[in-house]
Amino acid sequence: MSRTPGQSALCLVVGLFAAGCTQATNESAAVQPSGWDSELRLPEATDDNPDPHVFETTLVAQVAQIQIIPGKTTPVWTYNGVFPGPLLRVARGDRLIVHFRNQLPEPTTIHWHGIRLPNAMDGVPGVTQPQVEPGATFDYDFVLPDAGTFWYHPHVDSAAQEGFGLYGPIVVTDPDEPADLGDELVLLLSDMELNDDGTQAPADEGGDLATLFGREGNTLLVNGKLNPLLTARAGLRQRWRLINAAKSRYFQLGMAGQHFTRIGGDDGLIATPEPLSTIVLTPAQRADVVLDLAMPASSEVPVQWLPYDRGFGSTEYRQPATIFRIRTTDDAPLASPALPALGRDIAPIDVSKATPQLLRLTQNDESGKFELGINGIPGSKAEPIMVPMGDTQVWTVKNEVAWAHPFHLHGFFFQVLDVNGVAPSVAEWRDTTNVPVDASVRIAIHFDERPGMWMFHCHILDHADAGMMGMAMLHPAE
Ligand code: C2O
Ligand code: CU
Repeated sequence: MSRTPGQSALCLVVGLFAAGCTQATNESAAVQPSGWDSELRLPEATDDNPDPHVFETTLVAQVAQIQIIPGKTTPVWTYNGVFPGPLLRVARGDRLIVHFRNQLPEPTTIHWHGIRLPNAMDGVPGVTQPQVEPGATFDYDFVLPDAGTFWYHPHVDSAAQEGFGLYGPIVVTDPDEPADLGDELVLLLSDMELNDDGTQAPADEGGDLATLFGREGNTLLVNGKLNPLLTARAGLRQRWRLINAAKSRYFQLGMAGQHFTRIGGDDGLIATPEPLSTIVLTPAQRADVVLDLAMPASSEVPVQWLPYDRGFGSTEYRQPATIFRIRTTDDAPLASPALPALGRDIAPIDVSKATPQLLRLTQNDESGKFELGINGIPGSKAEPIMVPMGDTQVWTVKNEVAWAHPFHLHGFFFQVLDVNGVAPSVAEWRDTTNVPVDASVRIAIHFDERPGMWMFHCHILDHADAGMMGMAMLHPAE
């Protein structure tokens, strides 16, 4: 990432003391060392369309042999043979065309998580499109109406396919955003269950009990890498666009001595920046944070996964684990300038005439077999919630299972009104929200004019596959 504006301003100052800016560059200019993010940089998709407002590319789902554990190869389910899938970097308002081809042994689709797109582009098999059979193709084509950090993943046999590696990031840039929020890193967090020889464990390992807990892989990955190293200038601001692409694992991130400022969430900037000492992401959530890297020169600090309580067994006997490391150069730490004024006007959704819905997240004990559901009914047997276009609704999502659930609605942003009666401290748009153990979470949704069947589900994908999903049918009002 270049930092041209900041660099030239600094050159002016340095120029007073040094003969010329070129001479000062290596010593003092506020840039990251070259190759600073080489272990973490994601491959970017190529744009094959000459129109500057159309990004057209090809994604091919295919199994590739990837070295994750040194000296071992892992058969990973990938897009374009790279892991994670290529970064799609597009500007708000641009059109994205993806020519998709399936070269996997199983049918699949692509779901564009968090994007407010037309229903036919949502990637839900048998609902918004036919599944893409092995050898077949499908063209996705839609406009990106919102800036933010999003991602893409399959929606067929999701726990298995996503668990095997099918996911990639999408950054939708905002031309109106202040230019200098720091050097940007897109960090896609995930995990994988690997055997000693590098092969992947079967997706159903451990049976119903493992499904009920939600399978967490034994190998923690950042951008598909095991414990990579970032080399950075102390005090120089960085911006991290974080995505949790793990199928079940919550990520709570911490870094000794470091404070983060969260500026964005699932769906673009939050109302006002929020200082944090740790960052929590449920599966599928995103966070946009800046940090001024409060570290001495020539030192190394681990960025750690910290146990987070999402129910029984999620914290007991579990230790923090390093997911990547930051090493500072021997340049003297910089004092970071004040953060530019940031924020977003997020008017509360008017819920005075909202239609209420109660969604209990359930374990369906009466069914005689292991099954999860919503209001006691598994997704496969549920009637859709009928919603007239233009309606505003308040959904009370009540957790009746002994584990937390990240609740996700396709195609729409919502606002969390409260968790057990307590309103969130900062206004923001979300598409995935945590429903803790014993909690009721109320969310407000305004359904616009995009008719069709919109899915909602727990984003612990084992839970979704075991039945914790449902649909809202958005139809023209009479
Ligand atoms: Cu990431 Cu059905 O969603
Ligand atoms: Cu769940």
